[in-house]
Amino acid sequence: MRTVFWENNELKMIDQRILPARFEVVSYRGHKEVARAITDMVVRGAPAIGAAAAFGLALAGYESAATSRDDLVADLQASAAILKAARPTAVNLAWAVDRILLSLSHWERGRGEGGADSIRQFVLDEAQKLADEDVEINKRMAEHGAALINDGDTIIHHCNTGALATVDWGTALGVIRTAHEQGKKIHVLVDETRPRLQGARLTAWELEQYGIPYEIISDNMSGYFLKAGKAQKVFFGADRVAANGDVANKIGSYMLALAAHDNNVPVYSVVPTSTIDLSLAHGGLIPIEERDPDEVLGIQFHGEPIAPKNAKARNPAFDVTPNRLLSGIVTENGVVYPPFEINLAKVVNQDS
Ligand code: MRU
Repeated sequence: MRTVFWENNELKMIDQRILPARFEVVSYRGHKEVARAITDMVVRGAPAIGAAAAFGLALAGYESAATSRDDLVADLQASAAILKAARPTAVNLAWAVDRILLSLSHWERGRGEGGADSIRQFVLDEAQKLADEDVEINKRMAEHGAALINDGDTIIHHCNTGALATVDWGTALGVIRTAHEQGKKIHVLVDETRPRLQGARLTAWELEQYGIPYEIISDNMSGYFLKAGKAQKVFFGADRVAANGDVANKIGSYMLALAAHDNNVPVYSVVPTSTIDLSLAHGGLIPIEERDPDEVLGIQFHGEPIAPKNAKARNPAFDVTPNRLLSGIVTENGVVYPPFEINLAKVVNQDS
């Protein structure tokens, strides 16, 4: 099953807030609901957020009462702004929405302005195309990345970058899945990934489905396993990669990369080229989402609150791993090695 999909004129998605305890698919008919679902992390993971926003734009087309082309395009642009504002860090959100609006203008330039209904259908077809491409791109990346994994490797993985974080197959976890399917004997140390526990809840759930051996660790344990020589590779994803190769990903990735680097363990970020933002020269320019402190405080220990009643907390959702800590960036067009400033632009422009 895909993580997000179109069915009976509705956008459907797996509710990732309640996994692994319950598996439920939720349906949406309105773009504002979809934007809310992205903000509330019913769906999360950069590529999955992008695909959800693309289908959200298609819903906006059908919600609009416009009968003229101009009125419909104006409604679509207004809905696009609402969808793009759902979360700030993952570049795929804006990339997906902008790609569809740009394709629409190219389509119209080629054949003259379309009627409202043909535009509605065009937007839906483009969203479907984007979703289908995501799966194909992930499988291409997985082939390139699996070649970096040796038989017998123990891999530390951070957050969730599997089928749940994309339309299907996954990015970094897709690489691990393909290595396993190639018959390589591997073991995964799954960072639980506080505060929302995407590792313990979602990555472990996926690894169970794929029959891949794993153990969950708390994020502060990875340094111990790296120093003890008990992990040979580190793989994680990305929400936005700057032109110089600095990678924004789930909070904790930077600390993990530092510990790996200190122990000469290679660190790979697996990234579709849609997540590479050449408009930003370095990682310091990437907007970092700060989420509700209650995500940090709102859990229990032996059924009791984990902090004093009036405790305050911070909750930056992402951090930036500087390019110097990365051994390579795996894309659908191959593995990119330093100097990233030069080599990243090549793979991004390869398809255009
Ligand atoms: O806050 P989330 O769960 O959306 O963060 C997700 C991540 O950081 C992933 O590693 C990233 O989006 C890549 S998903 C293929």
